[in-house]
Amino acid sequence: MSKKRIILGIESSCDDTSAAVICDGYILSNIISSQKVHELYGGVIPEIASREHQKNIIPTVDIAISKAQINKNDISAIAFTQGPGMLGSLLVGSSFAKSFSLAMNIPLIAVNHMHGHIMSHFIKRKGIVNKQPNFPFLCLTVSGGHTQIVLVKSYYKMHVIGETLDDAAGEAFDKSAKILGLKYPGGPLIDKYSKNGSKNKFIFGKHKVKEYNFSYSGIKTSISRLIKQKSEENENFIKENFNDLCASIQHTIIDILIKKITKASEELKINEIAIAGGVSANSYFRSRLLDLEQNNDKKVYIPDFEFCTDNAGMIAISGYYKFLENDFVNQNVTSKARMKL
Ligand code: KG4
Ligand code: ZN
Repeated sequence: MSKKRIILGIESSCDDTSAAVICDGYILSNIISSQKVHELYGGVIPEIASREHQKNIIPTVDIAISKAQINKNDISAIAFTQGPGMLGSLLVGSSFAKSFSLAMNIPLIAVNHMHGHIMSHFIKRKGIVNKQPNFPFLCLTVSGGHTQIVLVKSYYKMHVIGETLDDAAGEAFDKSAKILGLKYPGGPLIDKYSKNGSKNKFIFGKHKVKEYNFSYSGIKTSISRLIKQKSEENENFIKENFNDLCASIQHTIIDILIKKITKASEELKINEIAIAGGVSANSYFRSRLLDLEQNNDKKVYIPDFEFCTDNAGMIAISGYYKFLENDFVNQNVTSKARMKL
């Protein structure tokens, strides 16, 4: 029997320190240590994030290895997030991965974070048959830093066909939440309060961007203008309309995503649609996509919650496919705050 391919993945691009173990495409562990300290500041503070990564990385890797019930000598290669992300945070993960690769004498694999989000669709779980997208498919990758439509031709060939010209959809959620007085990250909170609100109560700006591109900065301005104007008339405006404001903001942000992916799917005649990135955890987004599947001939793929937001499982699965191609890097590799797919 051929030797098992066991990949240790490391993700540290933003405010989550994560380590995961994948064996021949099957997830054995995926440990995420989230940095709660940023909630106090209403956003991620890069300097604090890198210090927290440094504190958390070794304990997180230790737990991932023991939960996977493997020995560190069993690991075939280590994969880490090269970029895009916050440089100070990326450097902690890459330095750890380089040292581990040297100490264990195993190959080093550099992974693009956005590639990782898309590859989360190919993570397998023992005993569960999961639906995986067929090539070519369209992937709407929506996170705090990115909003992209990617044409995915294979595990290795991916082209961005549309992206945001300014803010990302997750950023629009977080900035709107801040205007409403919610703590960071506000996306999940807007999702929660929207469940008891009316999505059509308020209308925020029109989205006029061409092709498959997006723009969210105008929406944020329209939300803050409406709230300012209404709060001048009634100081309790936000409190009295809180759930409706959340539901209307959520509907505005998600509706744009659904319209653009539908347009791309129809024009390119690709009916396989996947989503990835933190915003794919949004319950309204997931239900709108399922409507799209039920009312059309499209097939929709939504990752498990665990693999939507930043996690090392997605880095390990990308690493596994790169390992199959002997796509390794040497110790001179550098982290990149900006990095194309
Ligand atoms: O992919 P991710 O974990 O990190 C980045 O690479 O940015 O995405 C984080 C983003 C944040 O903006 C967060 O508010 C958003 O994903 N998010 C959500 C939900 N869960 C996370 N947005 C809306 N609804 C959610 N349930
Ligand atoms: Zn991400």
